Amino acid sequence: MSWHRKHLLTLEDLTREEILHVLDTAESFKEVSTRSIKKVPALRGKVVANLFFEPSTRTRISFGLAAKRLSADTIDFVSAGSSTVKGETFKDTSKNIEAMGIDIAVLRHTAPGAPKMLSECIDARVVNAGDGPHEHPTQGLLDIFTIREEKGKVEGLNVLFVGDITHSRVARSNIWGLKKLGASVGVVGPATLIPKKIEELGVKVYYDLDEVIGEFDVINLLRIQLERQRQNLFPSIREYSRLFGINGERMKRAKPDVVIMHPGPINRGVEITPEVADGANSVILKQVTNGLAVRMAVLYLVSGIK
Ligand code: CP
Repeated sequence: MSWHRKHLLTLEDLTREEILHVLDTAESFKEVSTRSIKKVPALRGKVVANLFFEPSTRTRISFGLAAKRLSADTIDFVSAGSSTVKGETFKDTSKNIEAMGIDIAVLRHTAPGAPKMLSECIDARVVNAGDGPHEHPTQGLLDIFTIREEKGKVEGLNVLFVGDITHSRVARSNIWGLKKLGASVGVVGPATLIPKKIEELGVKVYYDLDEVIGEFDVINLLRIQLERQRQNLFPSIREYSRLFGINGERMKRAKPDVVIMHPGPINRGVEITPEVADGANSVILKQVTNGLAVRMAVLYLVSGIK
């Protein structure tokens, strides 16, 4: 198929065929990172601006490296230390950076919908790198890429998300993508962290992890996002870990070949113990490696270069 989208804003927008096209393009870019000279000229002469208005380690570095591997020039903007602290608006900052001549803007922002708004006020192509609790489409794509690599397929798999579903852009993007590719998706967590009407997305809701853990091929653990919670939504971190944390004991109830995922950053000892995070079933660092190939694919496809 050929790619026609100027922006990547959500996985809700993408068709099954478009998602598969990104994954297949990422397969070919993954090989580039195994070469002694890890670079291709695909985006030579283009400028990619990383605009990060919210903290990030993986996504910011991954997009920066992906752009460099494609031979693009890069601008790395982080709001702390910029003129936003003097009162410049998000729109003015973005338009000023665009005036320096950028082709693709990669945006992380605390506000849901900020990438869509940016796409409507600048001419450059826009990629959503996480907008508040709304979506994180490249994380969804890299998670699905990793599942396909580990299991050889996505269709027919049972995938479980554990924890703070309400505040998770990662869960939302994954749910859109996985459902389009034919996976069954479940969510489990405290009732206060499961959004109302999530069943309308075709997701099964559970409240007891031990009862259902053995049914799943993939378990994706979500970070408890204390920074997005405005009230105490469960009694204590200790209580949360006891009921929903994955530890060695709980792993005995899971399928022996279950794939354990986490988008990072991990709260070790809260949603996952070190023995599981660093254990044989964990693909957490493979997700990070695959993120680079997926982001190379996304930057290349939205650039419009054939
Ligand atoms: N997974 C993820 O988005 O991590 P960062 O917040 O470090 O980018």
